[in-house]
Amino acid sequence: MRTVWWSKGRVKLIDQTKLPFKTEILEFRDYRKLARAIKGMRLRGAPAIGVATALGIALGINYSKASSYEKLSQELDRIIKTFQRTRPTAVNLFWACRRMREKFQENKDRSLKEIKRILIQEAKRIVQEDIDCCRRIGKYGASLIKKGSSILTHCNAGALATAGYGTALGVIKRAHEEGKRVKVFVDETRPRLQGARLTTWELKKAKIPFTLITDNMAGYFMKKKKVDLVIVGADRIARNGDVANKIGTYSLAVLAKEHKVPFYVACPTSTIDLRLSSGNRIPIEERDIREVTHIGNRPLVPKGTKIANPAFDVTPNKLVKAIITEKRIARRPYRQSLKKLFI
Ligand code: MRU
Repeated sequence: MRTVWWSKGRVKLIDQTKLPFKTEILEFRDYRKLARAIKGMRLRGAPAIGVATALGIALGINYSKASSYEKLSQELDRIIKTFQRTRPTAVNLFWACRRMREKFQENKDRSLKEIKRILIQEAKRIVQEDIDCCRRIGKYGASLIKKGSSILTHCNAGALATAGYGTALGVIKRAHEEGKRVKVFVDETRPRLQGARLTTWELKKAKIPFTLITDNMAGYFMKKKKVDLVIVGADRIARNGDVANKIGTYSLAVLAKEHKVPFYVACPTSTIDLRLSSGNRIPIEERDIREVTHIGNRPLVPKGTKIANPAFDVTPNKLVKAIITEKRIARRPYRQSLKKLFI
């Protein structure tokens, strides 16, 4: 399954706000509209946001009317800024901007036509690399899973959150493909319900048995020894191994520690931000309070209720048993093991 891709001068993606009831494909020729779609979470999940940004930059450059390298370079700055204003936590977005800018600069002596072609090619390469990374993460991660395991996951770290296959869900899919007869507890993941709407949809398609629970049920099932391990994705990992992921991940990690359940994180190395010394420095996105006060158009709370809506939290490295990447499985102390991934 593809989540976001390049097709005949357009960027196409599955509109995730319509799932699980309707599989609608959106098509973009204007990069600004694509950036708006990312902000509105029509596509979400850190690796998918990174891939869509790379494709969006290629789109913007491709249709630019700039007549010189300098003018095209200014256009690139504007395009990058537009994407950087969409979602601040997922570092894959910033990673994709850097990589596309480097490609642009490396080719400054070529014709504008050639630069455009090269950037489209680079964005397509990023799409394919993301799928390949997920497959490798799946393979490494599945080696940690015993036959018959019951796995709890949070949010959606599946094919929909990447260019295809998924990170945490990729590990689960791979274990299933290897015949390990795994079962999954899916946290519904308030307030946007990525678990209830998207992870269930993917697991159903993959014919992997699952049980949907509300977020506050995880401790109940851990105490009853119904959960063998937890595996989640990540939006940004600092140099010391602190992990920013969907709000509620931290509470899960604390519960897992209390019940001696191993807590794993799966992500591509593009999610690791060696520039940040610890999770305290990770910017946390605050989203519209309407996500909390309403379900669809239906209000849930008395008017004037004070609301907070941080979209992510940070799990301290000491609660993370291992970080599964496409290169290898990194373990504590993360300061050393994460750095080594880039050598
Ligand atoms: O707000 P979202 O839906 O973009 O948040 C997604 C998550 O937190 C995922 O767990 C994370 O991006 C990893 S996806 C492979």
